[in-house]
Amino acid sequence: MKTVHPLPDEASVVPVRQPLITVEKLTVDMPLGRSGSSVRIVDGVDFTIGVGERVALVGESGSGKSLTARALMRLDRLAKLSGRVDFDGTDLLKLSDRDMGKLRGSSIAMVFQDPMSFLDPLMTIGDQVAETLRIRGIGKAEARKRALAVLDELGVDRAAERLDAYPHEFSGGMRQRVVLAMALVGEPRLLIADEPTTALDVRVQDQVLDLLDDVSTRRGLAVLFITHDLGVVAGFAERVMVMYSGRIVEDGEVASVFAKPSHPYTQGLIKAVPRIDQDLNTLYAIPGAPPPPLARPSGCPFHPRCDQRFDRCGVDLPALQPVGMSRVACHLLDGKGA
Ligand SMILES: Nc1ncnc2c1ncn2[C@@H]1O[C@H](COP(=O)(O)OP(=O)(O)OP(=O)(O)O)[C@@H](O)[C@H]1O
Ligand SMILES: [Mg+2]
Repeated sequence: MKTVHPLPDEASVVPVRQPLITVEKLTVDMPLGRSGSSVRIVDGVDFTIGVGERVALVGESGSGKSLTARALMRLDRLAKLSGRVDFDGTDLLKLSDRDMGKLRGSSIAMVFQDPMSFLDPLMTIGDQVAETLRIRGIGKAEARKRALAVLDELGVDRAAERLDAYPHEFSGGMRQRVVLAMALVGEPRLLIADEPTTALDVRVQDQVLDLLDDVSTRRGLAVLFITHDLGVVAGFAERVMVMYSGRIVEDGEVASVFAKPSHPYTQGLIKAVPRIDQDLNTLYAIPGAPPPPLARPSGCPFHPRCDQRFDRCGVDLPALQPVGMSRVACHLLDGKGA
């Protein structure tokens, strides 16, 4: 008898990536001066990044993007973290400081907005790129060889000569490549990039993004990219997570979120992107400002600014729930007045 194979449904055609990092109920509490009390900045965040996946994290200033990213690497000594951060089978929040130190650079690396504050003006480029490897006990000659290879990979011309140059001899774009090289030389599997192109002019910004795109594809490197710029998200990321007041309010594929944002906050962010054909008098801004973490409103933290709010929004905190291929935290999904 002939076997009939059912046609795969649409969802199963999408390749499912193997998870690289899975974050569950992550909270970040920061101390309030010396009072002994603290304030919850990141308030129960769940997400997964797949092997080689490029995910953008967006949201207004102060929403907790940087503290979320820094929590994954346990960079803030004063932060009190809870939840789970599973990286390739290990809960990073349970690792000893020593083991966490070994993992930084070799499994997860981070680049920041301002390359100059990250570079030591008194140390040569070659030594700085090689340093991550030297700390791991790799010999000087081998570390220098690998530093050269990664600078080459990142398009630094005459890299061999420039190993002995100092940061002030490099342009802004070249410095950002050096910082990227420092992050990538340890062959991490996840790169966290916190607004790495914001300080660069648009042309250099595009070059750095193209470069990251190439490296991520070639190496199968996953990237968590934090940015304010939705244009950058559209050009670079496959998935976007939208953060508001310490929580993720929408998470989905870039194309579908941009075409049909579900959360009123995401709708506002997209509406606020100026278009080239737009009359300057019609520029849109979401009314009001995000709440300070110590004065979060009850219910949905976005409700005071939301033009679609109804009674329940001021009372219940909406959970992040699946909607098609996305996740959204909004009561509208349960039907108005439900
Ligand atoms: N070390 C700290 N101690 C106490 N509060 C902090 C600390 N760092 C940040 N915060 C507060 O936590 C909140 C979130 O900060 P975070 O830097 O994560 O925001 P962000 O989304 O990255 O913003 P931006 O887009 O401006 O970079 C802000 O209200 C900020 O004032
Ligand atoms: Mg930030």
